[in-house]
Amino acid sequence: MLVLGIESSCDETAVSLFETGNPPKLLGEKLASQEKIHVEYGGVVPELAAREHMRNLPILVNGLCQELNIKLSDIDAIGVTRGPGLKGCLLMGVSFAEGFAVARNIPLIGVNHIEGHLNAVLLDNPELQYPFLGLIVSGGHTEIVYAESFGKYKILAQTSDDAAGEAFDKSANLLGFPYPGGATLAKLADTVSSSPYKLPKVMREASGFSFSGLKTAISLLINRTRNPEDSEEEAQKKTAELAYTIQDSIVDALVYKLKKAIKETGVTTVAVAGGVSANQCLRRRISAIRNIKSYFPDFKHSVDNGAMIGFIAAIRLARGEQSPLNGSVVSRWPIEELS
Ligand code: KG4
Ligand code: ZN
Repeated sequence: MLVLGIESSCDETAVSLFETGNPPKLLGEKLASQEKIHVEYGGVVPELAAREHMRNLPILVNGLCQELNIKLSDIDAIGVTRGPGLKGCLLMGVSFAEGFAVARNIPLIGVNHIEGHLNAVLLDNPELQYPFLGLIVSGGHTEIVYAESFGKYKILAQTSDDAAGEAFDKSANLLGFPYPGGATLAKLADTVSSSPYKLPKVMREASGFSFSGLKTAISLLINRTRNPEDSEEEAQKKTAELAYTIQDSIVDALVYKLKKAIKETGVTTVAVAGGVSANQCLRRRISAIRNIKSYFPDFKHSVDNGAMIGFIAAIRLARGEQSPLNGSVVSRWPIEELS
């Protein structure tokens, strides 16, 4: 069976096509990023994002079918992100998908975006097996989950304020980089190999994640360090070193909590997912943890993408699942509530 996957929970419109099987086979995928549209507002404008999804979805689906030489009538099922995410954005994807499902009389699967991120690691590493620990680090989520089997997840730690991606983006903004900025900060940080600046070690005692204290410390450090009298060269060097210290401290907090969870659970297989899993420093530091096996998605499947949604839909469809066509979306949907 051919399964179309649709993602529209935030500012990327993305589609994919899978053939069911064990595991499902990715035939193709397409993505339209809206970064250029939101950059002038310093963040995602939900209404603009929703409108773009509506415009992009038919273009991407038709383009993908043409590329793969497949007719719309060849599609046997459709999977779409039902949550979590921005309500207006989710509604665009779900309305499009439900319309398609009704018109073609095919089943629809409502997919959890976070389950998609987590299982994107399996999509790119078929040798990864349940159970494992998942570190999910994106623009909206920072969680460590115990993934017992497909669909059965327990949240062991989560953030009480910002997500790791937000910590990167807000720091990037303080350094003067346009939204989202996380990847730009990381790229600059990787141009130097040390820094004279220090940030406090945070989150050592608390059970979950919290980035608010670190955010304040980062803001103070930047204000203290920058000097309008600096030459351009000196200012550039300082910015790169500040980026290095900021990246190091965010990554350090994530790795500290992950190591703690490994120790507490005794689970030594780790999957790292979500936009921040594209971070090279995080990948290096987790890969260096001794006596564990760590897995990461391909870079294009770290950030939001259509393949992770089609993958879940194809698996759930093969399990005989199907969702009602009632237009519902869920802005908050912890993966613990799945089965
Ligand atoms: O998973 P994702 O694409 O969207 C959400 O579901 O939120 O994650 C986006 C987040 C943004 O905050 C972005 O700045 C961050 O992932 N990100 C990175 C890197 N690439 C993307 N953060 C640090 N280093 C990177 N290389
Ligand atoms: Zn995401």
